[in-house]
Amino acid sequence: MQVVIDVEGYWPMNFRSSVRLIPLLFIFLSVSSYGIVLPGCDIVMGHSAGSGVHWESAILTGAEVTTEAEIHRIAGIALAPGPLNTEVQEYLASMGGLRAIRTNPKLWDIYLRLYDGITPFSPDYQELIQFADLNLPQSGKIADIGGGTGPFSAWLLLRARNREIHTIDMSPAGLALAREKMERVAASLGEPLPSFDIMELNLLNFTGNELTGLSGAVMNNVLYNIPLEAQLEAMKKLRAMMLAGATLIVADPNGDVVTKELLEKSAKDVAIGAVKNGSTPSDFDIALGIYINVEILRGGIPPFRPAADLENLFREAGFKVKKRIVNSFYFGLLTVLVLEA
Ligand SMILES: C[S@@+](CC[C@H](N)C(=O)[O-])C[C@H]1O[C@@H](n2cnc3c(N)ncnc32)[C@H](O)[C@@H]1O
Repeated sequence: MQVVIDVEGYWPMNFRSSVRLIPLLFIFLSVSSYGIVLPGCDIVMGHSAGSGVHWESAILTGAEVTTEAEIHRIAGIALAPGPLNTEVQEYLASMGGLRAIRTNPKLWDIYLRLYDGITPFSPDYQELIQFADLNLPQSGKIADIGGGTGPFSAWLLLRARNREIHTIDMSPAGLALAREKMERVAASLGEPLPSFDIMELNLLNFTGNELTGLSGAVMNNVLYNIPLEAQLEAMKKLRAMMLAGATLIVADPNGDVVTKELLEKSAKDVAIGAVKNGSTPSDFDIALGIYINVEILRGGIPPFRPAADLENLFREAGFKVKKRIVNSFYFGLLTVLVLEA
């Protein structure tokens, strides 16, 4: 079918041509406002009902946030000095403070509950999963390192049932959500049920023997949480667990480009994309989620490696760099590497 849009003749338009344009317009609007949406989101994510995280608040009510305008409004008052900003800071202080994020699994537990109801619904996050899926083997042992609540693990399994997925993280609450996803996906794939494994482990305590014979691994937004001086050792141990020629995909914030403005914009855009794509966060989830994202990442808690530096780290750990993508994925925030063990 040939579709010709005659701009001159657009106004006024006769009824038949406007009817023909409706499907086209619908496709255009879906693609431009939602981006890609991975098939199986409902299976992987189940029913999103918000995280349930809350505190005594004079400002927030626990209401579901459904519009872009509401996200901008809540983010604005959570990030600027004022009563909500104070409430958020006090809540985080009662959890040990944001600076403890590296070492305090309790803080990760809370963050991951918020994160799980928002981020994996975002088309920009799902685009990363799609990239990982296309670049990882279709079978063999695949590890999701720092896999958190398991969206990568679950989608990688859903898209290739012969992958044996191993999800590793230090957060028990994150892993409980990962287990739910994996069980849902396994049930949807049916008999013979695929095998998967969920392992609570701190990457700082890696021995290199926890897993062997990995055909592939993915590590999305994890490395920056490990102290700079411990990263090389941990990545050498990860390499020791991988078969020669196996693929590792790493995504981490790019120290060359991170600015406060970019962080704020991307934190809001993640939430906006997610809400359009079926997530149902509460006003607490939005306020706390956006605050933590902006404040953890801003001011270098911890510092981010510039793209070339990240590459050098993996070369030193014994990997070959096969592909490097900068300033493209996730609102241009990330360096994404495809590496060979
Ligand atoms: C930003 S989240 C990303 C989660 C997941 N990779 C994803 O893309 O959805 C970072 C994850 O790293 C995990 N993490 C941070 N430091 C860790 C450590 N030392 N050992 C194990 N996991 C760690 C956290 O528990 C959290 O799940």
